[in-house]
Amino acid sequence: MICVYGAGSIGCYVGGRLAATGSKVVFVGRPRLAAEVRAHGLHLTDWRGADLRVPKEQVRFETDPGAARDADLVLVTVKSAGTEGAGRELAPVLKAGALVISFQNGLHNAEVLRAQLPGRTVLTGMVEFNVVNRGAGAFHHGSEGGLAVEDHAGLAPHLVEFADAGLPLTRHRDMRGVLWAKLLLNLNNAINALAGVPLKDELSQRAFRQCIALAQEEALALLDSANITPTRLKLPPKLIPTLLKVPDAVFRVLAGKMLAIDPLARSSMWEDLQAGRATEIDWLNGEVVRLAQSLGRQAPVNGRLVALVLEAEKGGRRDWTGEELLKELRSAQ
Ligand SMILES: NC(=O)c1ccc[n+]([C@@H]2O[C@H](COP(=O)([O-])OP(=O)(O)OC[C@H]3O[C@@H](n4cnc5c(N)ncnc54)[C@H](OP(=O)(O)O)[C@@H]3O)[C@@H](O)[C@H]2O)c1
Repeated sequence: MICVYGAGSIGCYVGGRLAATGSKVVFVGRPRLAAEVRAHGLHLTDWRGADLRVPKEQVRFETDPGAARDADLVLVTVKSAGTEGAGRELAPVLKAGALVISFQNGLHNAEVLRAQLPGRTVLTGMVEFNVVNRGAGAFHHGSEGGLAVEDHAGLAPHLVEFADAGLPLTRHRDMRGVLWAKLLLNLNNAINALAGVPLKDELSQRAFRQCIALAQEEALALLDSANITPTRLKLPPKLIPTLLKVPDAVFRVLAGKMLAIDPLARSSMWEDLQAGRATEIDWLNGEVVRLAQSLGRQAPVNGRLVALVLEAEKGGRRDWTGEELLKELRSAQ
């Protein structure tokens, strides 16, 4: 049995695809989503046209950690701030030999789980695509990318079911480059949250794209010094800032696909601010600041973004124009 622990957008989608193709799955999450999923079941769609349903009678969605007791495989899908708590709750209930995968953004969530789960195997995973909850149990996978995971012999019994679910596990010996490549893309989450506009509006404006480029260039220079090579996602990571900085008309031609997104989609950091939740800023841009510190350097652009998002969490501005934010980041630089 597979347990999805912290079933929200990612957990319901990944677990839902597995359940829709015959895997035995239990979801553990909050009462609000439990009510939604128990009322409607799950409806899973993707950008390629996949359309699957799990009827409400067949979804097991629990709110008690004890539901993870029988799982052979546990997929942890809480936001980074919830990782330690999830590990603490799982420690007394996991059965011997259960394998745990952290399917979270950031760099160190698997380590945080390992500290809470001594003697267990916890693997680093990464979800390369985006998922939005459209309400009434509907979860949409709206972008390219798959599931990456640290290779381990314990994955063998599960490879076929993930492949059958349309989400094959791409196994990596070293996940560091994969995690950093995703983190580079996620540096935009802060900018989108501070802009307070949908991603499509934000990415259509050169000044916002220049902000993303500043944050990415700062991180890429530090990664070079640290001898860390981020893996290629859609493009080689070093080309992305150059592409982001071109004028709007050129960007529309060169990167039309990047703008082919749901006109209402926003970053999950914007959603967190709206909902009054702590954001993942410290696990994303905060990691660039920590990498700089470890090298005896500074990361003023990402440091300023961390500060602005922390201010926004406390009620500060979430309506920056591209020009205002660019000026702010350039002066920090
Ligand atoms: N959404 C995406 O498109 C996407 C894409 C790639 C990667 N990711 C990453 O994947 C991770 C999950 O993101 P998400 O968007 O799926 O987050 P999410 O929608 O907030 O889902 C996490 C759910 O877990 C619940 N939760 C937290 N602690 C729990 C606990 N101890 N027991 C039971 N439930 C708990 C949360 O409730 P509370 O809100 O009450 O804490 C929330 O409902 C993050 O690291 C994110 O950065 C997300």
